[in-house]
Amino acid sequence: MILQHPMLMILLRKILVMMVWVFTFPAWAQNPLAESLLNASPETIRANPELLSYMNSIAETAITENCASCHGADLTGSGAVPNLVDYEWIWGIDGFEMTAVESVMEIMQTILYGVRNTDCAEEIKMFGGCPDTRYSEMPAYGNQGYDENKLNNMVDYVLSLSGEDVNPFAVEAASGDWPVCVECHDVDGTGYTPFGGPDLTDDIWLFGSSGPEIYDVLANGRMGVCPAWAEELDATTIKALAVYIYNKANGY
Ligand code: HEC
Ligand code: HEC
Repeated sequence: MILQHPMLMILLRKILVMMVWVFTFPAWAQNPLAESLLNASPETIRANPELLSYMNSIAETAITENCASCHGADLTGSGAVPNLVDYEWIWGIDGFEMTAVESVMEIMQTILYGVRNTDCAEEIKMFGGCPDTRYSEMPAYGNQGYDENKLNNMVDYVLSLSGEDVNPFAVEAASGDWPVCVECHDVDGTGYTPFGGPDLTDDIWLFGSSGPEIYDVLANGRMGVCPAWAEELDATTIKALAVYIYNKANGY
């Protein structure tokens, strides 16, 4: 039936989200600072102390209420929950070439739709995730014919990327398998942010830096989740959060 067509469902969902935003319109229209915050570029906000402090207070309240439980009150994260204020992005932002607006748009996408968000109706899901959510899978190579020996060699290869002293024969043996990883982690292992593959060459580890912890990731895969906030938070709050995170990550 046409009414159950997945594209139509996605469209209906988008219209619903837009309606929620439009209905919150009077709240921010009455407050000129809220309206300026929605329209201003990150640079304009930073240059206006009144607007900046208004934005910071909105962001800090939203963080305490919604994000601190996972990312920590100062957003530095821990374990599998990433630090949001260190300019080491998993999703969307790659290097320092992007403009502030482009970077803030990427952060907003992550906040609006989440990472591997599955909290929506089955019929609108694509590849198991909700529409527009950041999605990719760290495969479970233990289910793809990689035996213990192969996985152990790959652990050494991964450790060699961050300069660890490992068995060179294991690294050599695993180098033939590395091409399957580059789609998400890039050829040099620094990560490919459109697919959320973390940088394997730095000393930041979501799931632990020890051999057995890395082995477990390679054998069993991972599917980290950040909730979607499009239906929980209004447009002003989403914008405030994204610019706040961008500012902190840049040390402003
Ligand atoms: C239930 C725990 C949880 C909550 C609550 C949560 N997050 Fe997350 N968040 C995560 C996890 C886990 C990841 C990493 C997902 C992955 O594996 O890529 C993440 C990733 C992110 C990223 C991507 C970071 C990057 O390097 O690209 C952003 C941005 C983010 N969260 C913002 C927020 C904001 C803003 C809030 C509050 C409104 C929030 N999160 C609430 C768990 C959470
Ligand atoms: C289709 C994309 C994809 C491919 C292919 C892939 N990975 Fe990943 N990898 C990811 C993602 C996404 C994560 C983060 C998972 C999460 O946050 O839930 C990850 C995480 C990891 C981690 C953990 C990093 C940390 O910070 O703890 C290691 C190690 C890793 N991958 C190694 C590999 C190796 C080695 C290969 C090839 C044999 C590989 N990956 C292939 C997407 C991929």
